[in-house]
Amino acid sequence: MNKTELLKFQLEMGADESIGHTPVNRLLAAKKPVGSETVIEESRTATKAPTPSATAEPTMPATKKSSTPALSSNVSAAIAKAKELASAAKTLEELRAAVQSFDGLAIKKTATNTVFSDGNRHAPVMFIGEAPGANEDAEGIPFCGISGKLLDTMLGTIGITRAENAYITNTIFWRPPGNRRPTPEELMICRPFVEKHIALLNPKMLVLVGGTATAALLDDSVSVSRLRGKFHSYKTPFAENPYPVGVLFHPSYLLRSPLQKRLAWHDLQILRDRLEQDKVL
Ligand code: URA
Repeated sequence: MNKTELLKFQLEMGADESIGHTPVNRLLAAKKPVGSETVIEESRTATKAPTPSATAEPTMPATKKSSTPALSSNVSAAIAKAKELASAAKTLEELRAAVQSFDGLAIKKTATNTVFSDGNRHAPVMFIGEAPGANEDAEGIPFCGISGKLLDTMLGTIGITRAENAYITNTIFWRPPGNRRPTPEELMICRPFVEKHIALLNPKMLVLVGGTATAALLDDSVSVSRLRGKFHSYKTPFAENPYPVGVLFHPSYLLRSPLQKRLAWHDLQILRDRLEQDKVL
């Protein structure tokens, strides 16, 4: 059987996700010591150290639960500063200004704009993506490029628009150079801002768009493929009650893997049903 026949066979057998970037001979792997497994996901390339993105099979970044990397004093200081600024912000405008004034991340220096948010600040649903790309960096608006167009189309099918009922942000506010995935340290540094962002918007529901946001806020040990289609819960330290959380495939992943749109469609229906049930839509 050649590779194409093998792939076709797997699809016919109902395989609906890949579990690694490169093929693995499980029979050989079984003889090797354990420790090199890869958890898959989408959008950009997961990194411990920054790697260029776009084509590589995505992996979840290790952020909070599965690894506790020793932090350099610079990273610890940046996190402490972000916490201090986030705690002090009493409104979304103050938080935006705090993020804009923050200079604890090197990627801010290579970015053109701080990309804070878009959409309706009274929206019941808050969408959190990964990081600004080239278009977002140029415009200062999250999800304004090709993947943003697909996101808008997806949301439009269930009656959600930025003007009316969606508020959109990312897990980091500056474009990582070369469009690489954010590093765990960058995610940790921005995290207090994201946590406060959620509390200040106080949405009825959070939706994490893609593997990076899901790993950063929900669970970094399980792929989006496993978390999608259900609701979860997220508690920010800046708010008393947890928020219900839905998970969507990242639109840039769907652009590269159109077969997965079928599952994404299902996820959107589930989201709409829950929002209708909660009288949010
Ligand atoms: N991808 C994201 O995750 N966020 C953006 O703002 C743009 C592309």
